Amino acid sequence: MDTFTRALSSLRQGCYDDAAQFCSEVLENEPAHAQALHVLGVIAVQQGRLNEAEEMFRQAAEICPSDARHHLNLANVLRARDNVEKAGAAYRAAAEAQPGALAAWAGWAYSAMPGDHYRDLLRSFHGWLEPDVYLEIGIESGRALSLARPPTQAIGIDPKPMLQYTFQAPTRIFRVTSDEFFSAQEVREQFGPVNMAFLDGLHLFEQTLRDFINIERQAHQDGVVLIHDCLPLHPRVAQRNRQTEFWTGDTWKVIPILKQFRPDLEVLTIASAPTGLGVVTRLDPGSTVLEELWEEIMDQWLRRQLPEDDAARRKELSAVESDFASIRKHIEKALNRARAGVRA
Ligand SMILES: C[S@@+](CC[C@H](N)C(=O)[O-])C[C@H]1O[C@@H](n2cnc3c(N)ncnc32)[C@H](O)[C@@H]1O
Repeated sequence: MDTFTRALSSLRQGCYDDAAQFCSEVLENEPAHAQALHVLGVIAVQQGRLNEAEEMFRQAAEICPSDARHHLNLANVLRARDNVEKAGAAYRAAAEAQPGALAAWAGWAYSAMPGDHYRDLLRSFHGWLEPDVYLEIGIESGRALSLARPPTQAIGIDPKPMLQYTFQAPTRIFRVTSDEFFSAQEVREQFGPVNMAFLDGLHLFEQTLRDFINIERQAHQDGVVLIHDCLPLHPRVAQRNRQTEFWTGDTWKVIPILKQFRPDLEVLTIASAPTGLGVVTRLDPGSTVLEELWEEIMDQWLRRQLPEDDAARRKELSAVESDFASIRKHIEKALNRARAGVRA
């Protein structure tokens, strides 16, 4: 058994002092042994010496930048030490080294988008709006749908729900695609106008845009439509063909499309982890503009790529920090302007 294998074996048995001794011997002969530095970092974490762990993982990452584990452990230590900015850069390096590493993308997202998580925002919107009718497209486990509270009537649409949550609000589940749902159901007639909706179904922009058109027609003019996955971290996670487990698709395009073709709407994106939350208000259930311009919209937007530069991306998506109190004020002002007939 070579010395490094002995170090690993001691580490597995929890004999940290022995493992550290073997690693030091390895490093005496080979100072750039990234794995030995990594093991010393792991031991330092176990023993609560985070500043030393940071140094070990940093050296390992410099020697072997293609190994995502070095960056990921460095990022976790930096986050534990409240160094959010540097942690974000290390998570990003981990995601670039290994695009399949879900923890790297998630860590990057939480560092880049501090503030309220999207489900915290949904909870706050429910508390504020107390919607008579809440509709969610794409419910999966029912986690977000379960945030609705009585007397709200909740409607969930998903062709393949995998329910794991119970619902306090009276809830109807439709096991169909959103297109099938809207071609068969008149929500206004059955339930009343939709006051709050959350679009989180198929992550392709043309589907999300169609979902928005269908929802707006069934909505109250003071209603709020929330759209998940509107602020992807990087073009790689925003491809139409899924390449990464952490995936938003090109749903984000709906935001600039609405800004361009429906300037009457109030549109913004909350920079909330993990993938941003679009917000659309000042709805016009009678509008047919998007359907009339559908071909033009598809021609212009199908092949567009997400801006790689963070500032350019946030500008295009009208991104705001994830702080519910200020977002609520902003929306209230926009709705008041609409009620007074004032256009922005
Ligand atoms: C990301 S999950 C939804 C998560 C859920 N909104 C939450 O936050 O807890 C996406 C869901 O969309 C559903 N979906 C896919 N295509 C759809 C479509 N055309 N219409 C409605 N739902 C769809 C999938 O079955 C999947 O369960």
